[in-house]
Amino acid sequence: MIPNQWYAVLDSAEIKPGKPYAFRRLNDEIVVWRDAHQRVVIMRDVCPHRQCQLSPGKIVDGNIQCHFHGFQYDREGDCQLIPANGRNGAKPRAFKAHVYPTREAYGLIWMWYGEPRQESDYPPIPFFEELADFDYGTIRREWNVHYSRSIENQLDISHLPFVHAKTIGRGGRTLVNGPYTVVEPGKSISVWVDNQLDSGLPATKPSAMPSKDTPPNLKFLFPNVWHNRIAPKISVFAAFAPVDEENTVIYVRFYHKVTNFAPLKWLISKIGNFSDGLILAEDQGIVETQRPKKSELNVGDRFIPADRPIVMYLLERQRLIEGTHADELNEADFALDLASR
Ligand code: FES
Ligand SMILES: [Fe+2]
Repeated sequence: MIPNQWYAVLDSAEIKPGKPYAFRRLNDEIVVWRDAHQRVVIMRDVCPHRQCQLSPGKIVDGNIQCHFHGFQYDREGDCQLIPANGRNGAKPRAFKAHVYPTREAYGLIWMWYGEPRQESDYPPIPFFEELADFDYGTIRREWNVHYSRSIENQLDISHLPFVHAKTIGRGGRTLVNGPYTVVEPGKSISVWVDNQLDSGLPATKPSAMPSKDTPPNLKFLFPNVWHNRIAPKISVFAAFAPVDEENTVIYVRFYHKVTNFAPLKWLISKIGNFSDGLILAEDQGIVETQRPKKSELNVGDRFIPADRPIVMYLLERQRLIEGTHADELNEADFALDLASR
């Protein structure tokens, strides 16, 4: 995982009031619950007393109550009650549950992976503001891959006429010009897709593509959200929630802003979700066969110029993990141009 980032890890609708929920995210067992003000809390799913799971417990007075000996922990993780010590008895500070910094925004729950900070020092939530007032429907899929492979898949534009030959890749546009790709170091990767029928002319190299002044077709925001702009008022969004080194939960949303008529909104969401589910299943079948399950630079994959967005993702990901400088991006461009000769 890239440290010191807000990860989209859950859909808000998964956490109903009054009940704790157990999940595995970011290589940890977590319990997620809402306090008396419906604010979301994410804790490690371990009671500091005798280390059983907290998630089978209850929400009592806005705290989570362990079901073993009834200790209660508030949203900061502080122990508010040890029943065996009496209502006014000792609640030593050592009985502190591990809490993850958490946000709820855009109908998603975000979990901070990294060193905790002063409240004012956290970066903003990475999201696509232009979608904030769209309607949407969500589907959830579990993939047996590291989240890096599922992200790469959505930045891979040469697979469309093969994996999606009967759906979004219809028409056999196998030749990939560019793609023109813009990287904002540490933040985003934007991709403009220019796939064509193969007329016998060579593909245009990424470095020879003219710059664009239209919005990108694809945009990825680190660490784990992606947006495919299909039309000005229709978009597909995905959050790739890391579970562990070999598993990812993908939340795909069909966003639209085409009607104010509620039943029609509902229908558009359902149709969009249905078709996105079919397309995602086409991807899943092949991506789960990729080895290794976790993608990195120098693990055996070889790249072509059309893979530029993937290479940029891997380089930028490695740079963020290692805290190194962005200069290597130019070297990667050079290597991709060589591959096209
Ligand atoms: S193990 Fe949780 S209260 Fe004892
Ligand atoms: Fe795909």
